[in-house]
Amino acid sequence: MRVTIVGAGNVGATCAQRILEGGIADVYLVDVVEGLAKGKALDLAQAAPLVGHGMTIEGGESYAPAAGSDIVVITAGIARTPGMSRDDLLETNGKITEAVVQEVKQHAPDAMILMVSNPLDVTTYIAQQVSGLDRSRVFGMAGVLDNARFRTFIAMELGCSPQDVTAMVLGGHGDAMVPLPRHSTVSGVPISELIRQDRIDEIVERTRKGGAEIVSYLKTGSAFYAPAAAVTQMVASILRDEKRILPTSVQLLGEYGLEDVFAGVPARLGRGGVEEIIEVELTDEEVAALHRSAEAVRDVVARWEQLSSPAAG
Ligand code: NAI
Ligand code: 2OP
Repeated sequence: MRVTIVGAGNVGATCAQRILEGGIADVYLVDVVEGLAKGKALDLAQAAPLVGHGMTIEGGESYAPAAGSDIVVITAGIARTPGMSRDDLLETNGKITEAVVQEVKQHAPDAMILMVSNPLDVTTYIAQQVSGLDRSRVFGMAGVLDNARFRTFIAMELGCSPQDVTAMVLGGHGDAMVPLPRHSTVSGVPISELIRQDRIDEIVERTRKGGAEIVSYLKTGSAFYAPAAAVTQMVASILRDEKRILPTSVQLLGEYGLEDVFAGVPARLGRGGVEEIIEVELTDEEVAALHRSAEAVRDVVARWEQLSSPAAG
């Protein structure tokens, strides 16, 4: 198994480490900055005898070694700093995504593409437009991270293990994302029986702003440990054909009443990529929230179309 990771920054390099040390795949790391991917790859390779795994890693600026990859994870781009929304990254990261996916199309046409760069649902849309891949083979990571944040905050509230918390977050990876307390439980017990409603509302709000909270502490960038763990869970489910049901940003073609928009929904991930989109039953209120979140993604896609139209130069 071979995974190419584009972008050897915080998320990309941490993904490489997790994928190698998890024994999941060999890695090729690419970055536009000369020497960065090569240096980090060499450093990670030298950890192998200490950590005790048999995976290999190489790095460079060329896409040629990406040939034969099963999955290409794209983390290239800029991260936000305090005061910025994910959507503020659109112009820069949209252009980077276009350029990177052109390279992937040329050198690794059979690879699936897992997008990470923000604004996530829109870069995933751009990746699909440029690659022309079927929706089962081009998708994005965000919901697994948002979900993990929701689970963590619920566990902190109750003083229990986050492993016993299951939760669900749907929608776009933005402030309008849709955490679903009704589908969230602790060892099978609905959280509404364990936590007061006003506290649940605060946890939902903290989840929505979970990325910004970390940016406010880091100041020079955004979260990367949990995002890399989330990417690794998706990659493992695909390469090991685990068929896990994980929230995934994918093109919706009528599911949840949404047509031709990318948003996070539960999906079965296996060797076929997105093998099935799972439609859970939602209340009218939850459906309305999901549609509002998808509208927010559509607005940013429309801005991208404007920016990239020939008239915009
Ligand atoms: P970073 O700044 O640490 O790393 C980004 C890397 O991309 C840099 O090394 C840079 O040189 C490289 N890069 C830029 N243009 C490139 C190009 N054309 N080709 C190849 N490499 C290029 O940023 P970090 O923290 O790794 O975040 C990366 C992206 O992931 C950001 O857009 C961030 O917002 C996003 N992100 C998304 C998450 C999600 O849930 N979907 C979670 C965390 C981050
Ligand atoms: C996050 O939510 C930056 O989107 C990233 O942390």
